[in-house]
Amino acid sequence: MIWIRTVAGAVLTLAALIVGGCAPTEAPDPRAGLPPAPWISRAIPEARGEIKVLPDGKREAVRYKGWTKADFGKFRTYAYDDTRPEPRPGKAPMPAIAGDPKKGRSLFLARAKGPCTGCHLIQGADVWPAGNVGPDLSTFGDRGLPDDYVFNQIYDPRHVFPNTTMPPWGTGGVLAPDEIVHLVAFLKTLKGPAPPEKDRERDPNTRPKPPGFGDNLDPTNNPAVGRAEAAEALWAKKGPAGAKACADCHAGGPAKAMKGAATRYPKYVTQYRRVMSIEDLLTVHAPETTGMHMLAQSAENLDMTMLVKMASNGMPVAVDLSTPEHRAAFERGQANFNKRVGQRNHACADCHTPGSGRGADRFLGGRLLGNVENGLTRHFPTWRTSQAQVWDMRKRMQWCLTPLGMNMLPADAVEYAELELYLTSFDKGKPISVPGIRH
Ligand code: HEC
Ligand code: HEC
Ligand code: HEC
Repeated sequence: MIWIRTVAGAVLTLAALIVGGCAPTEAPDPRAGLPPAPWISRAIPEARGEIKVLPDGKREAVRYKGWTKADFGKFRTYAYDDTRPEPRPGKAPMPAIAGDPKKGRSLFLARAKGPCTGCHLIQGADVWPAGNVGPDLSTFGDRGLPDDYVFNQIYDPRHVFPNTTMPPWGTGGVLAPDEIVHLVAFLKTLKGPAPPEKDRERDPNTRPKPPGFGDNLDPTNNPAVGRAEAAEALWAKKGPAGAKACADCHAGGPAKAMKGAATRYPKYVTQYRRVMSIEDLLTVHAPETTGMHMLAQSAENLDMTMLVKMASNGMPVAVDLSTPEHRAAFERGQANFNKRVGQRNHACADCHTPGSGRGADRFLGGRLLGNVENGLTRHFPTWRTSQAQVWDMRKRMQWCLTPLGMNMLPADAVEYAELELYLTSFDKGKPISVPGIRH
C-alpha cells in the first residue's frame, strides 16, 4: 500500500509542477510537495474508519453510535492509495416479469433505497419531502418512453448522461433488476395534468428556504458557545506528571495568544509534513507539549478547537495557497472533491456545486444543499440542532458520504485535510464565525 501511495504521489507531484509551471531549483526539504507519508490516526476509535472482522468472518465497520455498520469496502474511497478506477457503466437485460406500479411507488419513496424522492418530485400529498436536484417526474408517463430505455436509465444513467448526479442504482447494487421493473411500471402511470398544488411546501420549487438559527455567538442561543468557554479550564490545566499547560507557553489568555491563528488553517505544517486543521494539529501538539491527549473527535479536541477559532472570529480567512506544498495539496483536494466514490458513485461536487443537474442551492429531500462557492467552512465546528452535538468539518464529511455507501476515512486523514483546504479556499477573505449553528 505504501508503495502504491509513493508511486501515485510522485505522479501527482509531477502533474502539479507541470500545471504550476514552476519546478523548484532547490528543495531544502526533500519531501516538500510530496503527498504526506501515511498518517497514524489519533482519532477516537469510532472516528478512525476501521473495519472489524467478526468471528464468523463477516466484516463490520466501527463507526459513531447510530451510524451504519455496513462495510462498503467493495466501493472506492477518497484514500490516496485507493487507485481503483470508477466502475464502468453497467447494463442488464430487463427481466421478463410483470411490473407492479404499486410496488414501484413504494420503492420510489423507500427511504432505505433511494429515496428517488430525494431528487425527484412526483404526484401525491404523501410525497414529502421531495427534492429538485433531478427533474420533476410528476408527468413522466406522458413522454411515452420505451420501457427498456427507462429501465436502463435507472439501472445506470451514465450511458446517456455520462456526468450525471443520479446514482447507478443497478450497477451499484442498491436496486435489483426486478425492483427496477416495478419502478418502470410506476413511472408510466405518472400522467398529466398534475392536480393543482395545495401545499407550496410540497413542491421544492416553491418551498420557502429554511430560516436561519439566529445569532450563533449568543450563548443563550448556541449551546456550543458554553462548551468552548469550558475549554478555558483545559487551557490553564497542567498536563500529567507536572508537564506544562497551554497557558504556560501561550501567554496572555487564549483570546490574545490565539488571535488570528485559525485564519491560516488548514495549513501545511513543516514539522509534520502535511496539511493540518486546528483539530489535526491539536492531536499531536497537545500530547507533545502538555502530555494531554486531544484525539480527533474527542470532546477535548472539539472544545479546544472552538476556543482557538473563536479568537479569530470576525477576522478574514487567510489560507495560504501559494507555496508548492499548498498548491499540490489544494489540487489533490480539488481532485477528490470531483472524484466519484462509493456505492452511489457520488462526488462532493454533485451536491455542492451549482448548475443544471447539480445540487447546490436546490433541495435534496427537505435539505437545502450548500454551495461550495459561497464557502462552507468558516462556521465549523458547528452546533447541529438535529443532533444536539458539536460537529467539526471532518464529521460532516464522514457523514455526507457514509450513508451513500463509502467507507469513511479516519477523521484526521490527510485526504480530508486537503479536501478541507480546497473547501476553505472559497472562504478566503470572509469572516470566521465559530461556533456556527446548523440543522
Ligand atoms: C441524487 C439525485 C438523484 C436521485 C436520488 C435520483 N435521481 Fe433520477 N435523475 C437525477 C438527475 C440529475 C436526472 C437528470 C439526468 C441528468 O441530467 O443527469 C435524473 C433523471 C431521471 C429520469 C429521467 C431520465 C430521462 O431520460 O429523462 C428518471 C426516469 C429517473 N431519474 C428516475 C429515478 C429513480 C427511479 C430514482 C430512484 C431509484 C432516481 N431517479 C433517483 C437525479 C437523481
Ligand atoms: C511547551 C510550550 C507549548 C505548550 C505547552 C503548548 N504550545 Fe502551542 N505552540 C507552541 C509553539 C512553540 C508553537 C509554534 C510557534 C507559534 O506559532 O506560536 C505552538 C503553536 C500552537 C498553535 C498554532 C498557532 C499558529 O499560529 O499556527 C496552536 C493552535 C497551539 N499551539 C495551541 C496550543 C494548545 C491548545 C495548547 C494546550 C493543549 C498548547 N498549544 C500548548 C508551544 C506550546
Ligand atoms: C448526495 C448529496 C451529498 C454529497 C455527495 C455530499 N454532501 Fe455535503 N451535504 C449534503 C447535505 C444534505 C448537507 C446538509 C445541507 C447543507 O448544509 O448543505 C450537506 C452539508 C455539507 C457541509 C456543511 C455545510 C454547512 O453550511 O454547514 C459540508 C462542509 C459538506 N456537506 C461537505 C461535503 C463534502 C466535502 C463532500 C464530499 C466528501 C460532500 N459534502 C458530499 C449532501 C451531500
